[in-house]
Amino acid sequence: MSLTIRVTRHGGPEVLEAVDETLPAPADGEIRLRHTAIGLNFIDTYFRAGVYQAPLPHGLGQEAAGVVEALGPGVSGFAVGDRVAYGTGPLGAYSAHRNVAASRLVKVPDAVSDEAAAALMLKGMTAYYLLHLTHRVLPGETLLVHAAAGGVGSALVPWAQRLGARVIGTAGSAGKAAQARAAGCDEVILYREQDVASEVRRLTGGRGVDVVYDSVGKDTFAGSLDSLRPRGLFVSFGNASGKAPPFEPVLLADKGSLFFTRPTLAHYTATRAELDAAAEAVFAAVATGIIEPQVRQRWPLREAAAAHRALESRQTQGASVLLP
Ligand SMILES: NC(=O)c1ccc[n+]([C@@H]2O[C@H](COP(=O)([O-])OP(=O)(O)OC[C@H]3O[C@@H](n4cnc5c(N)ncnc54)[C@H](OP(=O)(O)O)[C@@H]3O)[C@@H](O)[C@H]2O)c1
Repeated sequence: MSLTIRVTRHGGPEVLEAVDETLPAPADGEIRLRHTAIGLNFIDTYFRAGVYQAPLPHGLGQEAAGVVEALGPGVSGFAVGDRVAYGTGPLGAYSAHRNVAASRLVKVPDAVSDEAAAALMLKGMTAYYLLHLTHRVLPGETLLVHAAAGGVGSALVPWAQRLGARVIGTAGSAGKAAQARAAGCDEVILYREQDVASEVRRLTGGRGVDVVYDSVGKDTFAGSLDSLRPRGLFVSFGNASGKAPPFEPVLLADKGSLFFTRPTLAHYTATRAELDAAAEAVFAAVATGIIEPQVRQRWPLREAAAAHRALESRQTQGASVLLP
């Protein structure tokens, strides 16, 4: 029997049920994993609450590291005992063991710990595509990064700085602001106290930033729009405070012929080649010290509800993992 967390109805953290299940043998193309660490992500709360929909009942979690225990028919390139990780689902990472398609897995280099891999596959690959593919960040550009001390923020900020950008971060507390600065933010705006757009204008001599990376959504949407330079890029990639509001395209003209995109990791890692490129970039960023994987919170898998409460009440910093 193997512990797994199930969602049978949508709601608050209390809907997470710990159950024991018997796993079938891995099917064609699948690998059975024993998870060693599971990444906690804000997107998990969207699926739990029903903000993003999957047919009920369903598992939760899209990111984990573990050890290969068994190979299904037709699997090649992996062996029992390999250390592997994944960050693009499918739902079900909140489990002690699982069967998962080999096509989703990458091998973890010796230099990267299981916890670091579990913490970085989804968040690190997100930072990678946002900075290299959604927009290719150039030296001298100025970026506004919301929730700079969060999980994705803690990977994105130092990487952006290494690419030569000036990074203005936002953070929800003085403690988080200190962490965001330590990670590489040149400036930090306390966005629960300060007006973001006027602070950005002050910090940029009135010009505005080249790109906004906004994962907060509803609460930051207006300030993000007003922080961009003419023809700047609004990257809306999350909804931690609720979904960004619908808007008329002419708003982008009024605010300075802006560009707007709403990207998601799945569309940047859809092919094996894209997934390998993203994972290799993340592991190389760790090996060269661009990203320092820092797991700052840990919970036993059974206490996933407590982890969700902490994440949603803005108590976490950096990355968090669940331990089976
Ligand atoms: N599109 C993609 O491909 C993709 C991939 C990965 C993640 N994401 C998104 O990126 C965001 C960050 O994900 P994460 O897992 O790394 O989470 P996280 O940043 O560790 O946690 C979310 C942070 O958002 C901030 N926040 C602002 N308003 C909030 C509110 N009303 N409620 C809760 N938090 C609020 C908090 O930081 P402060 O206290 O500093 O404000 C909080 O710590 C999420 O929106 C997620 O959906 C998108």
